Amino acid sequence: MKNSPIVPYLLIMAMGIAIIFFLSLDGAGKKQEAAKGDEGGAETTEVDGEALAKQSCIGCHGGDLAGQGTNPKIAGLDAEHIQDVVKNGQGAMPAGLLQDPAEIEAVAEYVSSLK
Ligand code: HEC
Repeated sequence: MKNSPIVPYLLIMAMGIAIIFFLSLDGAGKKQEAAKGDEGGAETTEVDGEALAKQSCIGCHGGDLAGQGTNPKIAGLDAEHIQDVVKNGQGAMPAGLLQDPAEIEAVAEYVSSLK
């Protein structure tokens, strides 16, 4: 058995099985994470655009989002334009105030619906 030519093959096979085993464990873990991500996604579909706007926008754009000081009125603007400005910024308006696309959309819908 000591110098049997079959030993290296057995070793290689054992290593192969071990690698497959660990890769499948890794895959199972990722699947669980993905499932968790889906649940998180379901929660964010219920975002409250009004609450987010009050939290993130009125500080600069005023209580009714009708502008204050040098900050322009944003109430009633086109929802697509609002989404674009929140995502990319514009002039002194900082980008990245909101990160979640569902939140950006909800805020844009709410602000756009105002007069
Ligand atoms: C730090 C202060 C600040 C905050 C917070 C802020 N803004 Fe602004 N915003 C500005 C300023 C200043 C401008 C004018 C930018 C320019 O065009 O020079 C602006 C411009 C805009 C515009 C473009 C208006 C136009 O006529 O083109 C939109 C839309 C807008 N903001 C939406 C939002 C929304 C939605 C939020 C909340 C998520 C928000 N802003 C939060 C300062 C702010």
